[in-house]
Amino acid sequence: MGERLIKFTPIFRMGSMTFFDHIPLLPPDSIVGLQVAVKADKRPSKVNLSIGVYQTEALKTPLLDAVRHAESEMLAEGRNREYLPIDGDKSLIEELGKLVFGERHWKKSEGTIAGFQAVGGTGALRLSGEFLKAHISGEIHISDPTWANHRGVFIRCGLGLHNYPYYDFATHELNFDAMMEGFKKLPEKSVVLLHACCHNPTGKDPTPDQWRQIRDLFVGRKLIPFFDLAYQGFHRGLDEDAHAVRLFAEAGIEMLVVYSCAKNFSLYAERVGALFVCAQSETAARNISSQIKILIRTLYSNPPIHGAQIVARILKSPILSKEWEAELMQMRKRTNQMRKAFAEALSTKIPARDFDYITSGAGMFCYSGLSSDQVNRLIAEHALYLPQDGRLNLAGLTPNNLDFVTTAIASVS
Ligand code: LMR
Repeated sequence: MGERLIKFTPIFRMGSMTFFDHIPLLPPDSIVGLQVAVKADKRPSKVNLSIGVYQTEALKTPLLDAVRHAESEMLAEGRNREYLPIDGDKSLIEELGKLVFGERHWKKSEGTIAGFQAVGGTGALRLSGEFLKAHISGEIHISDPTWANHRGVFIRCGLGLHNYPYYDFATHELNFDAMMEGFKKLPEKSVVLLHACCHNPTGKDPTPDQWRQIRDLFVGRKLIPFFDLAYQGFHRGLDEDAHAVRLFAEAGIEMLVVYSCAKNFSLYAERVGALFVCAQSETAARNISSQIKILIRTLYSNPPIHGAQIVARILKSPILSKEWEAELMQMRKRTNQMRKAFAEALSTKIPARDFDYITSGAGMFCYSGLSSDQVNRLIAEHALYLPQDGRLNLAGLTPNNLDFVTTAIASVS
C-alpha cells in the first residue's frame, strides 16, 4: 500500500474558536533573547558585548584546563548516571559551602546552613523566591537598577517588587547614603536582595567599610539579607569577593545566598548553582531543607550531575583547584585590563567626559549610560550589541576590537 495523504482537519477549528489563538506574543528576553539577533547578524565586524560571558582575546568562551582535567578523570572512572538526591551532589554543596563561607565558618555552622544544588544561579533564585513567598514574605526589595531577570524571576514567584536606591545615574557611583536611607525605612523582616560582589549591571559595589554599616543596619532593623553571588573571583579574588557574605554570616544573621558557577568555572551551559539558607538552629535548617526539597521535587525532581561533579572534583583536589584558581586569576586580570583600557580609550575619544567611574568598577560590567536610542543605533549602524539598558560586558572586549567599539560609542554619544 502506498502512502496515504491524511488531510488533518482540526476538530476544534469551528468558527473562529481556537484554543491557542488568544495567546499574545512576548518580546524576546532582553539579554539571552538578543543572542538570536547577534547570531543572525552576518556583518563580519559585529561585536557582542551584551551577555555576561567571559571571552578570551581570541573571542572564545574558554574550556578551562581544570575542567578538562576533571572531566577526563571522570571519564576514566566511567561513572554511572544514577539520580542525584533531591538536594543534589553532597560534595558539591560541601565544597561550595567552604568557598562561599570560608572553611572555618562552614565547619562551625555544621547543620545550621541548609545547602542545595540548583540549576544555575537562576534556578537558585527561583527556588528562593518560591520559598520566600511560601514562608517568609510576599515582597522583595531589589536594587535600582538590577539584573533584568531578577524582576522576571520574582514576579513569576508572585512576589511584590520594590526598588531601593542604589546607583546615582548622574555620578555613575553607588549612592550609598540614599541606599541606607531606603533601608532605614523598610519594615522589619523585609527581604532585601544584595549583589555580593560585581554588581550586575552597574559594576559598583559597597566598600568593606560600607558593607559593615549595611550589616549593622540589617541587624538593627531586622532585615533579611538575600545575597546573589554570581561572580566570585571576578573582582579581587575568591576570599575578597566573598567578604560581604562572610561578614553577615559570621554575625549569625539568618539569610539566603544563591550561587552560580557559570562565570568563575566558565561552565555556563552546565547550569551549576547552589542555594544556601543560613538558619540559627539545626531544627530550623532541617525544616527548611524539607520544604525546599519539596519545591525541587515538584519542579525538576533532582538536579543534573555532570557539571556538579566537575566543580566538586576541582574544589576537592588541591592540584585541580590550584589550576582553576590560576585560570580564574587570568580571566580576572584580562577583564580588569580591558576595563582600564576601555576607560582610557573613551577618554581620548570623548575628552569632555570623565570615565574614571569605569576604571574603579568591579567585575564584568559597566553601565555605559547610553540610552536605548543610542544602543539601537550601535546595533543598526555598527553591529555592536548591548542590552537596551546600556550595560556593557567588558570581558568581551579585546585589544583588537577596542578601537572599533570606542569609535562606535563616540559616534553616537
Ligand atoms: C548576564 O547577566 O548577562 C548573564 O547573567 C546571563 C543571563 O542569564 O542574563
